Amino acid sequence: MSTPLLIQALQGQTLSRPPVWFMRQAGRYLPEYRELRAKAPDFIAFCLNPEMAAEATLQPMRRFGFDAAIVFADILLIPGALGQKVWFEAGEGPRLGALPSVQSMADKAQQAGEALKAVGQTLSLVRAELEPERALIGFAGAPWTVATYMLDGEHRTMGKGERAAARTYAYTQPEVVYGLLDVLVEATAHYLKMQQDAGAQVLKIFESWAEGLPDDLFESLVLKPHQKLVARARELGVTVPLIGFPRGSAALAERYARECDVQGVALDTACPLDVGQRVQKIKPIQGALDPLLLRAGGDALDRRVDQLMEAWGQGPWIFNLGHGILPDVPIAHVEQVLKRIGAQ
Ligand code: CP3
Repeated sequence: MSTPLLIQALQGQTLSRPPVWFMRQAGRYLPEYRELRAKAPDFIAFCLNPEMAAEATLQPMRRFGFDAAIVFADILLIPGALGQKVWFEAGEGPRLGALPSVQSMADKAQQAGEALKAVGQTLSLVRAELEPERALIGFAGAPWTVATYMLDGEHRTMGKGERAAARTYAYTQPEVVYGLLDVLVEATAHYLKMQQDAGAQVLKIFESWAEGLPDDLFESLVLKPHQKLVARARELGVTVPLIGFPRGSAALAERYARECDVQGVALDTACPLDVGQRVQKIKPIQGALDPLLLRAGGDALDRRVDQLMEAWGQGPWIFNLGHGILPDVPIAHVEQVLKRIGAQ
């Protein structure tokens, strides 16, 4: 059985073409997803229904034959497992209830994998259907990103790029924030281990809100918790490759690559090509086509794919977007990219 291309890239191999998958590849731009989703109005219940979540995971695989499937779930399942209420307002995104005490969450952290074993069942169902040459990715939100949603709860600043409430807490109530991050490290490590046991071959850590941090906070809110999470996951028996995604870390991406013991670093849309090349000298990279260009299509899309291939195709690289696919992306544009790369 040949090793999936995604895993070969994460082992540091330069391949004749990069493996390709897209963040949020399951989702509303697919008519079959919208149809399935309509059957389960509650998004969290949908994520925790293994049959439905496995179907959503497999839909883009059937249609496009991506090199990897990412389990259909959400980073906000963890707050639920720790006893914080989470729900989605239609058209508005996530809402979270009052933050439970750090102690009560700490008491639940080691059970997080068990509490979310529905996600493990999804992974097992998908693995049974997926061809061996396609990799299966599990994931979790990074501690800081999950904490921004948990702390923001009632402030409703979500969607505003600065994560103002959460970052202000880091200055005014550091004991709450750093206590919460430690609980999230523990819970997430157990959650990742459960996903590996259920069939995940690669695990991705989504730090969607690494942007806008001064470097001392980048160190304490992003880098240190990632280091702790990786160490704790390894201690619990996680052996599969990890991809870290410090989105918006800009000039700090190289430092992240050097100091965090993940096997791959996912870069965001704004990462310059030469910075990507420098990170690539340290470890395999993933990224970073602009989701807006995927939506726009046309010659500009082909040209940028060619540019990325030229700049990053000489080293270990996983082709992906710089952030999640948008709900109104034409399917033909996804196919155009796959053809251009030689993946379809
Ligand atoms: O990539 C995939 O196909 C796997 C599934 C996946 C989802 N969310 C499904 C989802 C993954 C990997 C995520 C991660 C996630 N969730 C992140 C990190 C990645 C990123 O985009 O930065 C974050 C920040 C979240 C939290 C979240 N979930 C938000 C802010 C929203 C609302 C925004 C929106 O697009 O509506 C969600 C909902 C969500 N998660 C949807 C999907 C397909 C859309 C909900 C729907 O179908 O109604």
